[in-house]
Amino acid sequence: MIEVKNIYFKYTDEFVLKNASFSVSKGEKVALFGVNGSGKTSLLKLMDGLIFPQKGEILFEGHPLTKQHLKEKDFRKNFRSSVGLLFQNPDVMLFNPVVYEELSFGLKQLQNGNIDTKVHYWAEKLNLTDLLNQSPVKLSGGQKQRVALASILILEPRFLLLDEPFSSLDPRTTGWLIDFLNSLDTTLIMAIHNMELALEIAERVIVLSENHEVVYDGNIKEFAHDKEQLTKAGLWHRHSGKEPHFHNFS
Ligand SMILES: Nc1ncnc2c1ncn2[C@@H]1O[C@H](COP(=O)(O)OP(=O)(O)O)[C@@H](O)[C@H]1O
Ligand SMILES: [Mg+2]
Repeated sequence: MIEVKNIYFKYTDEFVLKNASFSVSKGEKVALFGVNGSGKTSLLKLMDGLIFPQKGEILFEGHPLTKQHLKEKDFRKNFRSSVGLLFQNPDVMLFNPVVYEELSFGLKQLQNGNIDTKVHYWAEKLNLTDLLNQSPVKLSGGQKQRVALASILILEPRFLLLDEPFSSLDPRTTGWLIDFLNSLDTTLIMAIHNMELALEIAERVIVLSENHEVVYDGNIKEFAHDKEQLTKAGLWHRHSGKEPHFHNFS
């Protein structure tokens, strides 16, 4: 379980998250909604222990997720092998000369056994077997996304944090990723803009407002039909003289 308790976070002067509180239990699939700049990526980074709140706290399985605590080897190892964050831009995650090493890198850090078997298992699962000896730099956006995802899934995290995972995928790969995410029993917290896609995967939605506050936390189907909430969260719009609506883009 990850518990976010009354956290406030700022990079410089202004808070980009204010008094956020929620907890996510094992097996939940949660969509994280909010207009650009509302704080979704920051929230995912906070939950991944990459940045730390100025006020409030985050607990991972009851243990405070602090810089200090992450310096303890046992806690760090448990946390890093339990929680994985897929960045929106796979380029920031890929830095090894070939795909094989990209997949094995995390396992080596955690000194986990059966590295070669696991690399081949996840390469097969994400359709990367033919690319194992290639340089990640030369891959397409969708292929890079799959390599980045494999490099996280290979650690078999129990909590998967995904930052707009559909944003660089074509329709076919999008369909594949929906089925794939639905086949995992991993806990999922996913920043996403596309309501239709979110409805296919998540049961719950947490919504951040432009003002960086959690304005909704509950059932995603109810939220999707609540015009007042959608308007409040700035998630649908009006143009060309049409009624307010949202589009099916990610
Ligand atoms: N590294 C950073 N330094 C300073 N400000 C940042 C940084 N990253 C994001 N921000 C600001 O924090 C706010 C929230 O950003 P972000 O968490 O990326 O939102 P979202 O993912 O919802 O678009 C935005 O105003 C953004 O400009
Ligand atoms: Mg973002």
